[in-house]
Amino acid sequence: MAAGHSTQQSATVDQSIRRNVVISSGITALGGLLFGYDTGVVSGALLFLKNDFGGLSSFQQELVTSLLLVGAAVGALFAGRIADRIGRRPTVLVTALIFIVGVLLAAFSPAFAVLLTARVVIGLAVGSASMVVPLYIGEAAPPSIRGGLVSLNQLAITIGILVSYLADYWLSDTKSWRLMFGLAAIPAVLLFVGMLFQSESPHWLVMRGRDDDARRVLSRLRAPEEIEPEIAEVHRVTEMEHLRTRDLLTPTLRPLIAIGVLLAIFQQITGINTVIYYAPTLLQEAGFGTHASLLANVVNGGVNVIMTIIAIRLLDRVGRRTLLLIGTVGMAVGMFVTAFSFAGGEQLHGAAAVTAILGLLIYTGSFAIGLGPVFWLLIAEIYPLTIRGAAMSVATIANWAANFVVTISFLTIKNAIGAMGVFLLFGSLTLVALLYFWREVPETKGRSLQQLEQDLTGRAVSAGGR
Ligand code: BGC
Repeated sequence: MAAGHSTQQSATVDQSIRRNVVISSGITALGGLLFGYDTGVVSGALLFLKNDFGGLSSFQQELVTSLLLVGAAVGALFAGRIADRIGRRPTVLVTALIFIVGVLLAAFSPAFAVLLTARVVIGLAVGSASMVVPLYIGEAAPPSIRGGLVSLNQLAITIGILVSYLADYWLSDTKSWRLMFGLAAIPAVLLFVGMLFQSESPHWLVMRGRDDDARRVLSRLRAPEEIEPEIAEVHRVTEMEHLRTRDLLTPTLRPLIAIGVLLAIFQQITGINTVIYYAPTLLQEAGFGTHASLLANVVNGGVNVIMTIIAIRLLDRVGRRTLLLIGTVGMAVGMFVTAFSFAGGEQLHGAAAVTAILGLLIYTGSFAIGLGPVFWLLIAEIYPLTIRGAAMSVATIANWAANFVVTISFLTIKNAIGAMGVFLLFGSLTLVALLYFWREVPETKGRSLQQLEQDLTGRAVSAGGR
């Protein structure tokens, strides 16, 4: 009877802990929603924006799209160090404020130059959010459900993208690009207010010697018997590793930095944002009507969300590495199917049109189950605590820089080598990515961040051979 009682008690503790971490992660993941919305919204907004400000050239339109990505790289550069120095929570609060300022500036831009400035400002916040959200959630999460929780961020990104497509679609009658941009103020305010009620990351607190504060925070996030061992373990790894930013390239850390940076680059050069940002343009050029192209875009956004939900359910069971490998195979298949649908020419009809859409859906769904969430999850898991923020920054900057390069050059490359050529190129790059993932990416499922730190830095030293 006593045993029955205690099992019941620990079940309720588990449940309330689960509720606390899910709520806290959900609020923080609003940062991911803003990331998705602000990157996705421009595709539709451009259609109306280009007739404003006395008419915009193609180059001016590219600037509106890609300056956000430049801002994001800069935001990621600073956010990591700031998060290591002042804490994860204040960094999210500042990020939310920058979002609010940027979004309002964009919505009320009196001149084109102001709009461009606003896009850079929003980019700073997107870049910062893209790394500090997984960082914060990763440190607050119990190891057994960390994969799913951190990936709430990726889910929020995909929901943000889908909502932005729907907003573009619904507001297209009003032609109000200002409202399309301005709607993002709502989640930005919610993020700021929600974050006011959140606590600082327990690991950051321990790192700063604030054990009592960490204990208080952990009492809401862990079973009572897990708290002291976790604090002790965080102390142990922090004392072992007195790492500074300049240590990022030492033989111990270099292999881990390489994994983060290469995952980042592969996430982008395998083409995801050419689909996310340009699918309607591509389909229109292939002969689809405007309505059909936008609808296909919404369906693609929906598949992205649904497959991310499935990934969240599987990451802590099947493992990150397995999902990454399966997803990457699917991405290659999707790209090759899309490529061959253009075998009969740049215009698609009948079966070829259906094949192209199917290929794109297979590709996006496979990205969503693997490389999409797994990149952001792994970079929140594989780095030692004392430089986690800085190391995640490096991988995040690589992600935004690669995104920028692909986004700015995609249409030009497609015009030069044709749709089939460009998708064959992405398919081949995906195969290279697959080989790399298979050889180098470790499994991180189920182990504490402290255990991982010990195993991976040990492994890195022996791999470095020094
Ligand atoms: C990528 C973004 C991409 C999004 C699509 C994220 O993991 O970093 O660049 O737009 O997934 O769902």
